[in-house]
Amino acid sequence: ARRHVVDVVPGDGIGTEVVPAAVRCVDHLAASFGFTVEWRERAWGCDHHRAHGRMMPVDGLEQLASADAILLGAVGAPDIPDDVTLWGLLIPIRREFVQYVNLRPVRSLPGIRSPLRSEAPIDLVVVRENVEGEYSEVGGRVNRGRPGEFAVQEAVFTRTGVERIARFAADLARRRSGRLISATKSNGIIHTMPFWDEVVAEVAGASGVRLEKVLIDALAARLVLRPESVDVIVASNLFGDILSDLAGALAGSIGVAPSANLDPTKTYPSMFEPVHGSAPDIAGMGIANPVGALWAAAMMLDHLGEPAAAARLVSAFEHVLRAGTATRDLGGTASTEEFTTAVVQALDEGAP
Ligand code: NAD
Ligand code: IPM
Ligand code: MN
Repeated sequence: ARRHVVDVVPGDGIGTEVVPAAVRCVDHLAASFGFTVEWRERAWGCDHHRAHGRMMPVDGLEQLASADAILLGAVGAPDIPDDVTLWGLLIPIRREFVQYVNLRPVRSLPGIRSPLRSEAPIDLVVVRENVEGEYSEVGGRVNRGRPGEFAVQEAVFTRTGVERIARFAADLARRRSGRLISATKSNGIIHTMPFWDEVVAEVAGASGVRLEKVLIDALAARLVLRPESVDVIVASNLFGDILSDLAGALAGSIGVAPSANLDPTKTYPSMFEPVHGSAPDIAGMGIANPVGALWAAAMMLDHLGEPAAAARLVSAFEHVLRAGTATRDLGGTASTEEFTTAVVQALDEGAP
């Protein structure tokens, strides 16, 4: 049988609630689709930090390097600064494994109401640059706590980095609508964004997709007013981060949005996670929406060469939503456990 080695990092907060839901569904699928998954549990995150003073072991990345894929929940807790926790676990994985694409599809799902008045269906993908840009270690804090205190953060855009994300997005756009929107801010950010525009235009021109350059502020408004006019968006690290929560919420809840951190060269393992964070406000209550994690697990199965199992998982949670079972963020009453059990049942019934 086909065998896949997957490192599981549930992490913190609701990460530890939605990841087991995804593991349960994948195990269930494995039995009927004739593959096995070896899960390697990695109890890393804030508890690990409280016990050992670091988010993961010193050789954590080496341990992950031999996996076929990584499934992650979320990282972060109110008692440890986010720059410590995220730069101690999530961001090093994305960077060390050159997962330069963060693919974040958003679709209207059956049975879910968008907060928007318009009922036009949403079906878009945010292609977020995932290893450079505004997220950078270049900069510093000066005169901490003294007069004249300031902080500097440099954004770094390399030609290689912009070219490869633009190429990935243009390829995806060609397979979908043939249209690509580039999120920019070249009217205000005068060094990096004009460079971004130039490189994206070159790549899009060569690939034959229709490129539309849209300023990020206007794009945020357009997503609310006419989301159906948007198909593939290519965006820098920070802009893509913001747009993906916005788009998820427009589809009903950020709890349904999945995310694939891809190394398209397949040199390193790719990582799959929901878009949302550890949600300390609802952690431990058993009410987190597992759909984002389930959908991320489906993207992982696709990546592992199990497209039939991936498709079955997506139709199973769609079936459950269509039948009116949903967690509270979507206006329902189901717990994480109840929703997941319904999905497993739909898997058994071979949901259409
Ligand atoms: P968040 O995404 O955790 O939560 C935002 C809001 O959405 C909260 O009200 C939360 O209850 C709700 N929500 C999120 N996911 C949900 C789900 N599956 N079901 C139901 N409701 C859901 O964002 P935040 O509160 O800004 O951040 C909390 C912590 O998570 C911070 O430490 C942050 O740095 C971290 N974070 C981590 C990741 C990651 O690991 N990839 C992503 C985002 C935020
Ligand atoms: C995400 C998160 C992270 C990001 C944070 C927690 C560093 O918001 O995965 O979307 O900005 O990439
Ligand atoms: Mn985010």
